[in-house]
Amino acid sequence: MNLPNMLDAKVRGKSKVQYIQQEPLISNRFQGKKYFIRTYGCQMNVHDSEEIVAIVENLGFTSVDVMEEADLVLLNTCAIRENAHDKVFGYLGRLKHLKREKKDLLIAIGGCMPQQSSVAEEILKKHPYVDIVFGTHNIHELGRMILEKNEKQNINVYSIEGNVYENVMYKRDSSITAWVNIMYGCDKFCTYCIVPYTRGRQRSREMAQILEEVRDLKEKGYQEITLLGQNVNAYGKDLEEPVSFATLLLEVSKIGIPRVRFVTSHPWDFTDEMIDIIAKCDNVMPYIHLPLQSGSSRILKLMGRRYTKAEYLELFEKMKKRIPNVAITTDIIVGFPGETEEDFQDTLDVVNSCQYDGAFTFLFSPREGTPASKMEDETPIAIKEERLHRLNELINSYSNQKNQEYVGKVVKVLIQGTSEKDPNKVYGYTETMKLVNVVASKDMIGKIIPVLITDAKSFSLDGKMEEVVLN
Ligand code: 5AD
Ligand code: SF4
Repeated sequence: MNLPNMLDAKVRGKSKVQYIQQEPLISNRFQGKKYFIRTYGCQMNVHDSEEIVAIVENLGFTSVDVMEEADLVLLNTCAIRENAHDKVFGYLGRLKHLKREKKDLLIAIGGCMPQQSSVAEEILKKHPYVDIVFGTHNIHELGRMILEKNEKQNINVYSIEGNVYENVMYKRDSSITAWVNIMYGCDKFCTYCIVPYTRGRQRSREMAQILEEVRDLKEKGYQEITLLGQNVNAYGKDLEEPVSFATLLLEVSKIGIPRVRFVTSHPWDFTDEMIDIIAKCDNVMPYIHLPLQSGSSRILKLMGRRYTKAEYLELFEKMKKRIPNVAITTDIIVGFPGETEEDFQDTLDVVNSCQYDGAFTFLFSPREGTPASKMEDETPIAIKEERLHRLNELINSYSNQKNQEYVGKVVKVLIQGTSEKDPNKVYGYTETMKLVNVVASKDMIGKIIPVLITDAKSFSLDGKMEEVVLN
């Protein structure tokens, strides 16, 4: 058994990152058995689940959509806010009952939650029916943990700075769009954020390995890739021979996949070179997620964000000016400790200046072990909720307005599947990441087609395939 330790997780030493080539573990021990997986949290977790699925399918398991029919239930968890935590423990309640009826059921929990010492201990003390607990640093050990499973609960979570595993097998969710990890972990230590503790230090993959993966995806016919990292702009700074994200983006773009995206960017390291590459490469999509977190320079300082309101606005304006038709979305935290009405007005002020295409807004959630969780916080929750409500109204009015501007225009949409709401339609995304439900044949799935936008809703657009040639 290995339990995590938040103090160890904070260490950023000078030890060298190990680049380890992985070998898949293949067995037919679980032939005929079924697995069910549930993923919480960010794109990083979604992509990790594609690795988890490859691991269990290599042991013979096949997938099932109904939890009750599974022999193995996997939960890939998120620790970013308390409500993610509550959801997982709520789910565990259901699993406890299921296990009473089905003694052979295997339950495995992984991802960011078990990286927190309190959670690992809670599972150890109160949830003995959970069989396997693994963390973000040892997904590759999951196959072995399942094969070696005995009566005892097996908790194996490491709080280490982290290594880079190559040759990872993924069972990708889509044959049209794909995630590509370019780096792991984060060294920014924003004072509210648990990620640097749950995912370890920043470590970049070598550029050659990334390019090889992208070439392989191109050969397989993928239409879109998204380069993934907690803070992609800082890519390559930790490599023995540093490479900039701008260089990586340019090299990836040259491989020629029709659409290249990236998430997430921190305003701190966003260079002019990056802006120029997004502007000049046709296949680098004009869409940037640029987390603001707060519009108040005072709160930004307390958050450890390393930019002021004025610097953020300057960067934003530069992007808008240099990248034609760029869409920008953001993340905002409301109710950070000590946030006053005046600070909040600064946030509204930035939203009014930037008129974002969309935003994710969150109430501050204190995370154990982070500096912000110990800061004085006297604002009543009712006031925070009221601020969040006001902010959401403003954000929605701008995203609605942005969506309306599309009506009557013809845009390129990468069709990804059958529309959930209407099986007679297909759905896809514009270059600027707007969801569109389209009247078009299912033969268009996997293709980039011209679409005339006929209607705009709050969170999506409607359109029909246009028989014109786009340039
Ligand atoms: N409380 C609320 N929101 C948070 N985020 C990160 N940590 C917290 C927290 N403790 C938000 C930030 C980040 C997004 C992924 O989650 O806005 O950009
Ligand atoms: Fe968290 Fe800040 Fe790192 Fe983003 S940049 S993962 S908010 S510490």
